[in-house]
Formats: sequence, C-alpha cells, structure tokens
Amino acid sequence: MTPELTLDPEDWEDIKTLGHKMLDEMLEHLKSIRKQPVWQQIPNEVKFKFKMPIPIKTQDRESIYQEFKENILPYPLGNIHPRFWGWVVGSGTPFGILAEILTATMNTNVAGEEQIANYVETQVLEWTKELLGYENSASGLLVSGASIANLIGLTVARNTKANYDIIKHGIQASKKNLLFYGSTEMHGSIDKAIQLLGLGLNSLKKIAVNKQFKINLDMLRETIEADLKAGCQPICIIGNAGTVNTGAVDDLNTLAEIAREFDIWFHIDGAFSIWCKLSPTSKNIVDGIEKADSIAFDFHKWMYINYDVGCVLVKNRKFHSEAFNFIGDYTGHLKRGTGSSKIRFSDYGPQLSRGFRALKVWMTIKEQGIKKLGKLIEQNIQQARYLTKLIENEKKLEILAPTEINIVNFRYNDGSIDINALNKLNEEILFQLQEKGIAVPSNAMINGNFSIRVAIVNHRSVKEDFEVLVNSVLEIGKKISKNNNRF
Ligand SMILES: Cc1ncc(COP(=O)(O)O)c(C=O)c1O
Repeated sequence: MTPELTLDPEDWEDIKTLGHKMLDEMLEHLKSIRKQPVWQQIPNEVKFKFKMPIPIKTQDRESIYQEFKENILPYPLGNIHPRFWGWVVGSGTPFGILAEILTATMNTNVAGEEQIANYVETQVLEWTKELLGYENSASGLLVSGASIANLIGLTVARNTKANYDIIKHGIQASKKNLLFYGSTEMHGSIDKAIQLLGLGLNSLKKIAVNKQFKINLDMLRETIEADLKAGCQPICIIGNAGTVNTGAVDDLNTLAEIAREFDIWFHIDGAFSIWCKLSPTSKNIVDGIEKADSIAFDFHKWMYINYDVGCVLVKNRKFHSEAFNFIGDYTGHLKRGTGSSKIRFSDYGPQLSRGFRALKVWMTIKEQGIKKLGKLIEQNIQQARYLTKLIENEKKLEILAPTEINIVNFRYNDGSIDINALNKLNEEILFQLQEKGIAVPSNAMINGNFSIRVAIVNHRSVKEDFEVLVNSVLEIGKKISKNNNRF
C-alpha cells in the first residue's frame, strides 16, 4: 500500500541541517552587508530564470537554496544596506529574522479564535497607544502597512460622518456630495482609499501647501465653508504627520480644531513621522496626534521592524467595529473552546485570515527597548541635519526643501545650466548612484525641480555614509557636466 502523502520531510534531520546552514549564512550575509553594492541591475539571464514552466516533479531543497543564493539574494531592493535611503523603506533587524521563523513555525491565523496571538497583538496595541499618548480605550489593528491603515481609517470616517446608514444603503443613497480634505502633499494611498470607498477622486479636495509644504489652514477653512454652503457633506480632514516628499508635518492641533468646529472626522496619516514622538528633540513636532479620530502608521518604516507591519488606531472602538464586524454561521461566538474569544481582530478590518504580525513587533520592542529605539530615531534626525549641513557647505549643491525631520531634498547645481538640463542632470546623477551600487536615494519633484531625496529610516547608516553620498554626487555631477554639454 502506498503511504499517505504529507508535505513534511521524510528526514527531519536533513531539513534541520539545511535550516541551520541557511540561518548561519543569512546572518553572515547581513553582518557583511556593507561590503555589498546597495543595489545592482538584474542581468537578463537571471530574469530569464523566472520564466520557467511550472515544476511538476520534486526538486531537492539544497539545490533550491542554491538557486536562491545565485539568482535572488544578490538582487534585492537594497534596504538592508546602510546607504539605502529611498522612498521610506525600513531596514529590519537580525532578531526580526528569528521572529519571522517563529511566526512561520506557528503559522497561525489571527482572525478571531481563542489563541495566544490575540493577546500578543493586544499587548502591542496597548504599548503603541501609550507610546503615542493616544486614548487607551481606542481600538487598533495590525495591517500590512499604512496604505491599508489609511483605507480602514477613512472607511470608519465615511461610515460615521455620512449621517445615514451607509453600511446598509451604500454611497449611492447619499443625498449629498461626501467630501474629504487634505493637502496636495498627501500620499497616493489616500487617493487609492477614496477610490476604493466608491467616492471618486473629485471627493478628495487637495488644499495647497505653504513654503514649508504644510497645508494652508485658511484655504482649508474657506473650502469647507464654501462646500457647506453648496450643500455638500464634509466627512474627514486628513492631516499629514510627515509627508512622503519632504517629511513636512501639518499643524495637527489646528486641524483638530477645524475638524471639531465643523463636526468632521480627523484622520492622521503618520506613516513614519508619528515615531518622532520617541525623539527627545522632535517629539513636539507631532503634537496633536492624540486629538485624531484615527491614525495610520507603520512599524516597518521608522520602528525598523521587518516587513510587513503597519497599524491603524481608532479612538471610538464602536465606530471601528461597526464598519467591519461580521458574524456568519461559521464565525459565531461560542461559550468555550476556540470559538470563545472575546478578541476578534477580523471585526476591525477587511481581512479574515491574518498572519501573526504582532510577534516580530513584540519581540523587537522587548529586545531593543523603547529607549534605544527612540535614540535611533533621534540619530536618524541628527543624520538628516548633518547631511543638510554637508550640502549647505558645498557651493555646487543646493537644498530644495526644508529638512524638518528625516528627509533631505537636494540637487547638484553649478549654476551653469537651465532648469530642464538641471533636472536631467540630477536624474542622471541619481541613476548612476544607484547603478554603481553606491547609494539608493529616490527622487521627488519639488516645485518643478528634480530632487535627489534622502529619507533616513535606517539604523545601519553612519555619518560617513552621508559623506560618501555627498562626495559621490559632487564627483558624478562634475564628470557628467564636463563630458556632456547636453546637460
Ligand atoms: C506618508 C505615507 N503614507 C502612507 C504610506 C504607505 O505606507 P505603506 O507603504 O506601508 O502602505 C507611505 C509610504 O511611504 C507614506 O510615506
């Protein structure tokens, strides 16, 4: 008789040996990451390896691991490297790797059944509320990132402020235009959320910003007043606690006042800058977060926790759960056993099946302690100031936006070429920095100027890394300008 099948190994010793080897090699890889290029182009022959037919037969694990080492590991985004400062991408930790192994071993589904993961996630949420000075009765949920956290916050805002039973009747029953407000510097995840809420992008009013890239408060107020007069229904103000382009933080206290005055929901997108709260020099910048009805932010950016994990907090637990709770024949509350849980995270977001994201957050916070994490955030802020000074000291470099927290925008400009050529030149400098594996900043357009944008949420960066960046930009800029009159 043929034995029944399982996906477990025939020889557990075999997989244990391979597992130990993998772990040793991966930790060694991370330990020596500084010696690697930050990023490198993927050769076509490597890309071709991922156009193979689906495997029908088994392949031995050692050779699969070999393929990983040859064709996958050398071509990452680069965010584990000390000179990666692109977009806002965190660096993770070695202990986070171990936490992920434990999470994968438990392989649990944190939906709503009675199990320890519920208590770990609750603990993480309690700590988070305390750290941010947020209402302790607030509800929360760990999600894949700030994009989904924004979607959840804005969903609760829409449902709560629509003034009719939108859950039952949907937006087509709305007699009024439902409107959301934020600045022109809002993250694209807000646009996506508005579309997913069925509202259409015309429902998202983008208010101009001032020279510091913060929302113009007078214009916001005037717009809301005009919309009310026109018979529209203002639903929500979205405050930026750290814009993606420049890290600008809106005046959150005044936004909270305006929201209260007009009885509008106040949501904050604090994806990374919310964690300024842990910095001794910059915590006041995010004053007012405690006044928000909902906040979206990430652990995988400026809390350095391994991908992916974000969070949404909603001050009014009832409003939050009303938006998402669902009791089916198969998910009811039972008196005892696995169905008896009083904590049901699936009632706070669209996902039923959910991974155990809380474990890596819980383990990393315990391993490092909040004091050290706060010092690292402070270190990144000081590094941004150091980089800004280095740039200001160079005649051929130019700061393009105020460095409020941890994002620096600058360009090479020797004063000899016009704006179009300047934009092209700086784009080329960025390409070469990345392609030579020196550093990975990303880009932004600041008032029509192409900017080399450095967002520092990296616990591996040291001051010398920023000196390497500045020297490389100067060198590449000079070389291109000399060789190529086109620019
Ligand atoms: C301000 C802001 N909001 C939202 C997001 C989206 O976060 P995530 O990529 O974790 O979904 C980002 C990402 O960089 C961001 O910078």
